[in-house]
Amino acid sequence: MPANWPHCFNQQLTDPCLETKLSELLADMSLAQKVGQMIQPDIRYITPAEVGEYQIGSVLSGGGAPPNNDHRSSAADWLALADEFYDAALQSGCVVPPAWGIDAVHGNNNLFGATLYPHNIGLGASRSPELVRQIASATAVEVQATGLDWTFAPTLAVVQDDRWGRSYEGFSECSDLVTHLTAPAVEGYQGEIGCNDFLRGRYVIATAKHFLADGGTDEGIDQGNTTCSEEDLLQIHGRPYAAAVAAGVQVVMASFSSWQGEKMHGHHYLLQKVLKDTMGFDGFIISDWNGHGQLTRLSNVAGDEAVNAGIDMLMAPEDWRELWHNTIKDVEDGLISEARINDAVTRILRVKLRAGLVFPNRPSTRSMAGKVELVGCEHHRELGRRAVRESAVLLKNKNNILPLARNQRILVTGRAADNVAIQAGGWSLTWQSDDVSNGDFVGATSIYEAIRQATGAANGQAELIAEPTPEDLKRFDAAIVVYGEKPYAEGYGDISHLSYSSLYPEDAGHLRRISEAGIPLVSVFLSGRPLWVNPQLNDSDAFVAAWLPGSEATGLADLLFSDGSCDFTGKLSFSWPVDPYQASFNRTDKNPLFPFGYGLSLQDKDLLPDDLNEQDPTNYSPDAEALLIFRRHALSPFTMFVGDDLNWNLPVFGRSFQSHNRTVSVQSADWQRQEDVRRVTWSGGSGQVYFRSSHPLDISHLIEAGALIELTLCVHKPATKPVILRLDSEHPESASIDITDRLKELGVEDWQTIRINIESMHRTGLDESGISTPFLLYTTGELELSFADIAIRKPQQ
Ligand code: BGC
Ligand code: BGC
Repeated sequence: MPANWPHCFNQQLTDPCLETKLSELLADMSLAQKVGQMIQPDIRYITPAEVGEYQIGSVLSGGGAPPNNDHRSSAADWLALADEFYDAALQSGCVVPPAWGIDAVHGNNNLFGATLYPHNIGLGASRSPELVRQIASATAVEVQATGLDWTFAPTLAVVQDDRWGRSYEGFSECSDLVTHLTAPAVEGYQGEIGCNDFLRGRYVIATAKHFLADGGTDEGIDQGNTTCSEEDLLQIHGRPYAAAVAAGVQVVMASFSSWQGEKMHGHHYLLQKVLKDTMGFDGFIISDWNGHGQLTRLSNVAGDEAVNAGIDMLMAPEDWRELWHNTIKDVEDGLISEARINDAVTRILRVKLRAGLVFPNRPSTRSMAGKVELVGCEHHRELGRRAVRESAVLLKNKNNILPLARNQRILVTGRAADNVAIQAGGWSLTWQSDDVSNGDFVGATSIYEAIRQATGAANGQAELIAEPTPEDLKRFDAAIVVYGEKPYAEGYGDISHLSYSSLYPEDAGHLRRISEAGIPLVSVFLSGRPLWVNPQLNDSDAFVAAWLPGSEATGLADLLFSDGSCDFTGKLSFSWPVDPYQASFNRTDKNPLFPFGYGLSLQDKDLLPDDLNEQDPTNYSPDAEALLIFRRHALSPFTMFVGDDLNWNLPVFGRSFQSHNRTVSVQSADWQRQEDVRRVTWSGGSGQVYFRSSHPLDISHLIEAGALIELTLCVHKPATKPVILRLDSEHPESASIDITDRLKELGVEDWQTIRINIESMHRTGLDESGISTPFLLYTTGELELSFADIAIRKPQQ
């Protein structure tokens, strides 16, 4: 039964004069100009001259795409490029100049020196619509200062599974709370409907994303499939969009995910019928990064399916030229109707007219443009500090050891203690934020620095020691240990369980060693989601869930050393798991460790025991049916490595990586989804790629049951020398097999799954109960292949 989707268009947006102007503009446009308006390249792949030549209607900066590819580009550099795009459009006779969009999702986070606010998960814990509004509005100012027009925010995901790598981009697991914070976010970015400065002056265009049910996918798999009923689709995931449309959001971004097996990018019913026709959304729908390329034709240069389903603008970062040609041809061939094109362009121009993005409005002439002094200004940093204070949640405070006195000797330690990139999380200067360091975040304050300031002002003393010795520990009155997840964005953050100790065994060990010294211990935990931390709670006297607080860690020091002027007010916007597999929540029928809404204040008497269950089923599961090694990324506890005869063991970072003397290179690539496979090239000479566990695993039960190594792959260039598949306990204890012939049988450019019986492999002293490397491929010749899933499984009965 179809759900009862509400009509939520705000009549105040109706403007007959604007509509007249709109039809005049449209009437004067050629087909090529219209298609130009519908295509959005990334600035890394288009020049201003080409913006003019193709009369392109929009450009984007993807995560980590600043002018000149220099992440230290200043606001003035951004503005200069915005003017160049504008001028090029004007000179070419373009009808409406390009709008430039960016992921300003926690502040204008791609901009050097910008204020970085807590990611949405923290704002959800603050529960404060006013704070959300002010942050969105301050972010809009830092976007306007650079001459950009548009942010791809807010994310309205209602996160149903903490294993999802984008959990932190959502405010909450609870639809009511997300809905409650939606209008303040949209209005903070865009201004309020009916006011003179709606979409003008200090405001920018906002984007509600990702429509629909990005946060509802099975197992929390990024870009996965949401299987709920239509009624749940509306009640859980749809209501925030109703609030966004009512608040006048001008753009909606389609979700990479599917609903009941059908990709949202091709979902005519939900995009056209529900969002546009029924809810009354009159702005435009943009596709996500090559999302149109995930439809049945699997081609980034074919847009017709997406456009016919209701997508109005195609985010086509690299392959926009061919897409532009093909889309024109699609209209000429009747694959896309002119009516559909006219509707799409009408929607795009409507938004641009509302936002004043028509001639003459050169970016540098706008009221906020070039006000570089507003970027990372004092006022915004104060707001960030307040947001950090209001979003931190106090989960444990045994004997009320917090607040600490400022005049004490404080040990500060932990991998994240002096690391702004970890504080900031993904989408900070670069997409994954795994390649930036403190020096890149000018004006930011690390947690250690904030503690040093707080104690220094009162003759206390804070010392940062990475590995304190037992002797060191005796010198301090208390220890603050700061640790948490490494930065990630999107699918790179997907995990298969929530055990922090399994994900980061070194941190867990470090904390335990400190706790054994017996001095009061405060944990400051940084994470993009709740994780199972029972061992860490047991090790701590006080435990603060600080989420991803951003650049203003002074807000945390305010709380830790509160002199009475502030207190913890943050309340969990996500339930906190009682075991590593309690990842999908429904607030009413599960028993989490800390329920949704939990959070202590400094006065509260805390009765949490120190002996929470520490048994961790993710460490070792003697009865597992399978050992999963790779699915879109290396699965915990595995890390991917490459090696050649200069260095056999290099952990793979980022999306493009090479072994020491470049014999082996690894690239993330798209097969069924964005970056779901790795393409490995051996260029000749000894080279290997493998997955190694952080601790030995017992897989004897799997081998006894006749386990198979299962590998889904596609050969691009056949092997020129033998290819060896290997499994090691500790090298050279291994089992290996020559798979050259198996690979030959596969042919090229054909995805297939091969299975190899471990019993059939040649052994040299393999210890089945202590496997460190369950999968390794080695050759001395040339070979190019991509792989998707890798697992060791019991044979199917
Ligand atoms: C993300 C979007 C983002 C876009 C542009 C995509 O991969 O899913 O949220 O707006 O990239 O950076
Ligand atoms: C971009 C991101 C984008 C991603 C998708 C990156 O290069 O900077 O914004 O989401 O690619 O693959």
